[in-house]
Amino acid sequence: MRTSSAIMAMLAVPAAMGCPRRGSTRPHPSTTAVPATSTTILGSAQSSSSSLAPSVSEVSKAVPVVAGSTAVTGTSTFYGGNLNGGTCSFSTYTLPSGVFGTAFSGSAWNSAAQCGACIEVTANGKSITAMIVDKCPECDAGHLDLFQNAFNVLSPSSTDPLSTSYTFVKCPISSPLILHNKSGTSAYWFSMQVVNANEAVSKLEVSTDGGSTWKSTTRQDYNFFENSSGFGTDTVTVRVTSESGSTIVVKNVGVASDSQVTAGSNF
Ligand SMILES: *[C@@H]1O[C@H](CO)[C@@H](O)[C@H](O)[C@H]1NC(C)=O
Ligand SMILES: *[C@@H]1O[C@H](CO)[C@@H](O)[C@H](O)[C@H]1NC(C)=O
Repeated sequence: MRTSSAIMAMLAVPAAMGCPRRGSTRPHPSTTAVPATSTTILGSAQSSSSSLAPSVSEVSKAVPVVAGSTAVTGTSTFYGGNLNGGTCSFSTYTLPSGVFGTAFSGSAWNSAAQCGACIEVTANGKSITAMIVDKCPECDAGHLDLFQNAFNVLSPSSTDPLSTSYTFVKCPISSPLILHNKSGTSAYWFSMQVVNANEAVSKLEVSTDGGSTWKSTTRQDYNFFENSSGFGTDTVTVRVTSESGSTIVVKNVGVASDSQVTAGSNF
């Protein structure tokens, strides 16, 4: 449980200058099997990059319910969170309207597996939806470190710590998910993240033969899927798999540095 002096210290230290959330590493989780699904072509993608016209297909949704929907109870705190300094590296992202931000347990971090997932948090008979955007290294599994505005809704008297309960829910996002390159990516070093997804992402794979065969990436603690040798080409096909087994395929994805492509759909 975080003390108020720790919170003050967090507030006082800019994330880029040694916030304890950043820089710690965790073991990579073992891969899990994903149920097979069938493909439906939905149409062409929108792209924020005018030089590319990715084409997109979506594989049918598996189940509408997000895994891990059992309520987790605990004691939660707040901090002066922001997306830019968060361990999920959502530095180019803006939270959807009506969705708050939260840091998630370091002991349940699992190599950023829940980055971007949404939870419904209940306390004092009130509920909010929050997206996991950061890591709280010292928080146990039931302990959320909420952005202060989220905490204020649940605890108008700002009682800290606060007894909370949360369940995983789909995010209320109506726009497609977005693939975002890390700065410095190229044909020889691959690093990409998924933002604006309605479900936790479990896997990001790459194809250089139009989707006949797939190559793996490894999710880093800071929520980019990387392959340090790259894939040797300037454009690739990317397949994103959600925790419940839905997949979204985006073709003609450029792998040069630091811009993004919007898919044609969401989970
Ligand atoms: C990178 O991709 C190659 C295939 O091109 C694969 O053998 C390797 O395991 C991948 N590395 C990581 C870290 O995922
Ligand atoms: C990566 O960046 C390049 C430009 O630097 C862009 O053309 C490409 O679309 C980007 N891809 C993704 C998936 O962000």
